[in-house]
Amino acid sequence: MTAEYQVHGDVAVITLNNPPVNGLGLATRQGVVDGLDRAQADAAVKAIVITGAGGAFSGGADIKEFGTDKSLQEPNLHSVINAVEYCTKPVVAVIHTVCMGGGLELALGCHYRVAAPGCNVALPEVKLGILPGAGGTQRLPRVVGVEAALNMIVSGEPVKSEMIGAVPGQKLFDKMTASPESLAEEALAFARSVADVRPLPLVRNLPCKHPEGDAYFQFARNMVKGMAKNFPAPAKCVDAVEAATKRKFADGLAYERELFINLMWTPESRALRHLFFAERAASKIPDVPSETPKRDIKKVGVIGAGTMGGGISMNFLNAGIPVTILEMKQEALDRGIGTIQKNYEAQVKKGKLKEDKYQQRMALLSTTLNYADLKDCDLIIEAVFEELGVKEAVFKQLDAVAKPGAILASNTSTLDVDKIAAFTQRPQDVVGMHFFSPANVMKLLEVVRGKATAKDVLATVMALAKKIKKTAVVSGVCDGFIGNRMIERYSQQAGFLLDEGCTPQQVDKAIEKFGFAMGPFRMGDLAGNDIGWAIRKRRAVEQPDMKYSKTADLLCEMGRFGQKTGAGWYDYQAGKRDAIPSDVVNQMIEAHRKALGITPRKVSDEEIVQRLVYALVNEGAKILEEGIASKSGDIDMVYLTGYGFPIHRGGPMHYASEVGLFNVVQSMKRFARNPLDDARAWEPAPLLARLAAEGKAFA
Ligand code: 3HC
Ligand code: NAI
Repeated sequence: MTAEYQVHGDVAVITLNNPPVNGLGLATRQGVVDGLDRAQADAAVKAIVITGAGGAFSGGADIKEFGTDKSLQEPNLHSVINAVEYCTKPVVAVIHTVCMGGGLELALGCHYRVAAPGCNVALPEVKLGILPGAGGTQRLPRVVGVEAALNMIVSGEPVKSEMIGAVPGQKLFDKMTASPESLAEEALAFARSVADVRPLPLVRNLPCKHPEGDAYFQFARNMVKGMAKNFPAPAKCVDAVEAATKRKFADGLAYERELFINLMWTPESRALRHLFFAERAASKIPDVPSETPKRDIKKVGVIGAGTMGGGISMNFLNAGIPVTILEMKQEALDRGIGTIQKNYEAQVKKGKLKEDKYQQRMALLSTTLNYADLKDCDLIIEAVFEELGVKEAVFKQLDAVAKPGAILASNTSTLDVDKIAAFTQRPQDVVGMHFFSPANVMKLLEVVRGKATAKDVLATVMALAKKIKKTAVVSGVCDGFIGNRMIERYSQQAGFLLDEGCTPQQVDKAIEKFGFAMGPFRMGDLAGNDIGWAIRKRRAVEQPDMKYSKTADLLCEMGRFGQKTGAGWYDYQAGKRDAIPSDVVNQMIEAHRKALGITPRKVSDEEIVQRLVYALVNEGAKILEEGIASKSGDIDMVYLTGYGFPIHRGGPMHYASEVGLFNVVQSMKRFARNPLDDARAWEPAPLLARLAAEGKAFA
């Protein structure tokens, strides 16, 4: 049983008990109905309480059951709420900590609601690409008003119970308790106080109107249009709430149900649900149990105050953790600190950060030119030039001064973390922490696990990532780790597309229409085309037979490194970031084609998208098979949080599974037959080929 039944004098208490958040799975739903039956059959029981065990009243429907038979089996949530509404004895929802989704809908079906302060109340279904499907859109407007309800339903954001409780005229909570601690006692007293009140009040009987009717809903539709570009759910939320104001309750409920079922089957909802679980799974490492002890991180050292060092430091300052930055020269330190200050001042100016908070953060920052000043740091992150020799010197010095047990991390984006670890006498304490630029903004952190990295080091870094609000994904050691190794294949395809007849703007437009934040050429201009150039030069030595378009090299030879040089794949006006198509670049590409004897052809947007995305997928499959990533969801998280992959597509691996791996492989075989492409690169990874042949998906 995942709902417990107890009787306290004349009050029956049904306690949802389905850890971690009392999701309303089949057994729990059945438990509630059974409890109601027992309570009604017991003449001594005068009132019934429904509450939740542990750290939640309820987090809503059990998302793990979505798409399974269990979600369809009776009693479904509607039936449970029906059973509550038609109960002959008063039912009181006793709410604390978390009351979300179906949990709130269950509470809204109860005759009364008693809430503790500090409870997060929400209808967050929209974040899963659906809408409240058990009456939430019909009942919530009746108790908090149409506008407040629609705001909650469309945003999915939690509101604190005490905020709702303080709104005059609200009917969501019949009682707010003095404190979470007094909830149980006050709730029982409340239940007894209403035990004999008849008729039993029902939310469904309350009126629901908006004074401006059509005009308000038109306004609401305009509001959600922009924010819901790639997602159908927000507009449907508006439709459902409008129905609450215009239709009979039962009709509104049926309409909500219809919208809910339709949304549940959309690819957008499947993508968001995948993201929900992938995000949580990413923080779990298969062979590092959650109870692994963690090292205490009270002070952080950062080596290098350049582009990355400054942003990395800000993450810790924002979380209240003191940072000492070390540089080679005072000027470099001054420049780095100046950039940090400028970033914070911009936030203050925009009203995103209070002046006193800014001062508090800066007070946590110290600087040094002397390694000895890092001796009390618990974690030291190196962000110096990307040269193994420079890293060697740094790690040898760190090994000499860092205290025993200190974690030594490298922000390297391509170098071998095992080699870096071998520069020290403590390889077990060395780990990669690959932040993305700008490091104070980007959510992604690749945690690179070396051969010798200790489990408690990994556990500590993963927990710390959560504290500094990063999405951490573990990667094994390989060139480029998960993200950059895959992006190379994507860039390779982008180059071939130019050779074959595309312009940079056509490629960018096609993939941006697919949903990427930025196409490969605009991205190259932002990051600096010289970075890829340096990598290609290194590759030319390591893999001389690697096939790629030479257009990117020709661009760099022209000094067009991107925005920083005022010109790249596009032209840029001084001080502006707008990418202007460049005649010079188009002529360079045409001349290159001519030199190779290529007759340009019209490439469809569909082909552009498939070649770019499937190139990611094939490399992702190799990464998975080699164990560099432990789950396909990890690869998706890397791309969703670090590379602007469209959220509504769920990441490259999820997207490929949605398309069908068989179809993906078929397209790859077609691309391999193109003589201007790289047939070897399109050879399906064995894992991909196997799954495609078996009709399976990645997850
Ligand atoms: N069903 C199943 N499992 C759930 C769940 C749910 N509704 N909500 C959370 N969980 C699980 C998570 O997967 C995670 O499991 P794990 O430990 O195995 O990884 C665990 O609970 C803890 O979750 P978090 O890491 O997110 O813990 P937090 O304390 O940070 O947050 C929370 C708790 C606020 C409840 C957050 O998990 C959350 O927002 N959950 C989603 C709530 C939601 O979307 N509810 C609506 C469901 S749809 C619905 O109700 C349909 C209805 O209208 C018909
Ligand atoms: P940067 O050139 O902007 O900054 C490097 C800083 O390190 C300079 O301020 C330099 O003075 C300092 N430095 C060099 N040698 C030093 C030493 N021995 N002791 C102390 N300080 C020293 O470089 P950036 O871009 O910040 O890159 C740093 C590291 O981060 C590199 O390993 C890079 O590959 C990695 N990285 C860079 C990203 C980016 O987008 N720039 C993204 C992710 C990782």
